[in-house]
Amino acid sequence: MKRSLGVCYYPEQWDNSKWQQDAEDMVELGISWVRINEFAWSQLEPSPGELKFDWLDEIIEILAGQKLKVVLGTPTAAPPRWMVNKYPDMLFCDKEGTLRKHGSRRQYCFSHSGYAEECERIVELLAKRYGRNPNVLAWQTDNEYGCHDTTISYSNAAKVEFQKWLRREYSLKATDNDGDIEALNTAWGNVFWSMNYSSFSEIELPNKTVTEANPAHSMAFKKFSSDQVVKFNKRQVDIIKKFSDAPVTHNFMGRITDFDHFKVGQDLDFASWDSYPLGFLEDRIEADSEFKKEFCRQGDPDFQAFHHDLYRSVGKGKFWVMEQQPGPVNWAPYNPIPLDGMVQLWSWEAFAHGAEVVSYFRWRQYPYGQEQMHTGLHLPDGTKSSAYYEIKKLKEDLKNYSLVKSRPSQIALIFDYDADAAWEIQPHGRNLNYFMLVFEIYRALRKLGQSIDILSSSHEEFSDYKIIFVPGLVYMNDQLKQSLSNFNGQVLVGPRTSTRDKNLNTPIPLPPNLPNFDAKIVLTESFRSDEPIELANGGYFCNYREILEGNAEVIELTSKGDPAILRDGNFTYIAGWLDSKALKRIILSALKNAEMDFYDLPRGVRVRTNAEERFWFNYSSKLQRTSVKELSSGEVFIERIK
Ligand code: GAL
Repeated sequence: MKRSLGVCYYPEQWDNSKWQQDAEDMVELGISWVRINEFAWSQLEPSPGELKFDWLDEIIEILAGQKLKVVLGTPTAAPPRWMVNKYPDMLFCDKEGTLRKHGSRRQYCFSHSGYAEECERIVELLAKRYGRNPNVLAWQTDNEYGCHDTTISYSNAAKVEFQKWLRREYSLKATDNDGDIEALNTAWGNVFWSMNYSSFSEIELPNKTVTEANPAHSMAFKKFSSDQVVKFNKRQVDIIKKFSDAPVTHNFMGRITDFDHFKVGQDLDFASWDSYPLGFLEDRIEADSEFKKEFCRQGDPDFQAFHHDLYRSVGKGKFWVMEQQPGPVNWAPYNPIPLDGMVQLWSWEAFAHGAEVVSYFRWRQYPYGQEQMHTGLHLPDGTKSSAYYEIKKLKEDLKNYSLVKSRPSQIALIFDYDADAAWEIQPHGRNLNYFMLVFEIYRALRKLGQSIDILSSSHEEFSDYKIIFVPGLVYMNDQLKQSLSNFNGQVLVGPRTSTRDKNLNTPIPLPPNLPNFDAKIVLTESFRSDEPIELANGGYFCNYREILEGNAEVIELTSKGDPAILRDGNFTYIAGWLDSKALKRIILSALKNAEMDFYDLPRGVRVRTNAEERFWFNYSSKLQRTSVKELSSGEVFIERIK
């Protein structure tokens, strides 16, 4: 596969006299793909049934005239005002019970059947008209599910659909959707606090309860909300597929965990995601202010890579960056100018992790609306921005490295969206969240120069790997337990791995209940971050730990003599949240056991190894010395290894 460049373009925002020149300039810059249309519903259909596709025909023609390939977006992320007039109850409702208004975007609730039908109608119109157009070579459904926290809606429509969903989940026979309320009462343990129901129609959404709702209820609602996204997306994909052979994608986001991206990915031909490294550093990562200061113009050295690896997996091996930050954005707490060279570094990093296309947001900054302070490749008057020149250079450099050739990693890290929900529903203390637990392990592995695959919990084939990490996977299905215990390598699990059943209840016999692992958790505690628990061999447990008893071998102790790490059969159980020092020590020993190579990389330097290239990235703001060469700040070095 070839590595290519793309751009996000909004022809509807500019006079059509500019379109031809824009298309020519895109070619000049080395752009091959242009994404359009994802917010243009009111231009396509200014009033119900009044269709205006001529402008879209024209721009696709113009782009085609320059041999630019079109990614056509479905416009369902921005319902027009007339839609809200028609269906006032289609609005997204937040946890406080407030209906969101028209006046920005994503104001819809995924459960509203009237809106869903309108989406099917507009998608079908587009798919019929452009499905066989030789220049429409990919489709994007909607835009960023989960953006502005709009996936979990507490609307009336959601309540009705949730009750139906529960009836199906708790029906006695697969063919019967009537539901068995006693089965639900038992599965949720509703005898506790007299929470029993006598019919499904009594079950509310789990918001606005006096104290926390039953965790089984909250978990069911999370899964339901996730299924609604999967269903909404699949309805669009199915229609597009009827009329087009072009691949279909969706542009996911950074650290959005409130729906199961792997399940949405099952219905897509490839995954894509939107990468805004400087916004993410300030907005999405728990880190101290020294760290954020150090990387404020470069971004977190691991956050983008984590998502490249995640979406490569969501896309079943195939992914793009659909939106790449080109300069200051408008939406984060601080919006600095990236260090010189960072736009190139971010792009190369995506390519190094297997991206086929890196596409920039946006062609030209728009002097109206909410994103006036968001840079693009041009200023509003058409002057070229600094990102433009970085991409121009990238276009030249890409000529020597045009092919994507990845190499299977030897380390797998399991990431699971239900586990994230489980930690959020019952965190058991401050600073305890699943994403950061997994991400800190990912970061520690990267600091030692490892290339990692991020896999879903339904993955079954592990024979290419040497080490598998399964931190915090609260519910582990039997299939995964079996595959891991058959795996011929090291499996590092814990804390909190396999500690609940799928409804978030505590199983008896007590967890973790892993095959051939003879120990059970007898106590768990969360504690203040300024009172960590010291480990006898160095480093600490922070925030959280468990105490286990049984016959598994204790391979590490806390300074006070409690078991900290236990091993039995395939499984090494880490009974707490490790700090970076202990994490490094434990990962190093696993790498040595597996006879794997590693680097001890200087601060901010990361590598990614492919079949024929090793990429070196210097995220730090200083010159760094590595075993291959000195890297200046923001430098990318590509080492040929074959
Ligand atoms: C993305 C979104 C784009 C644009 C961009 C600004 O989240 O998909 O439409 O808003 O952010 O950074």
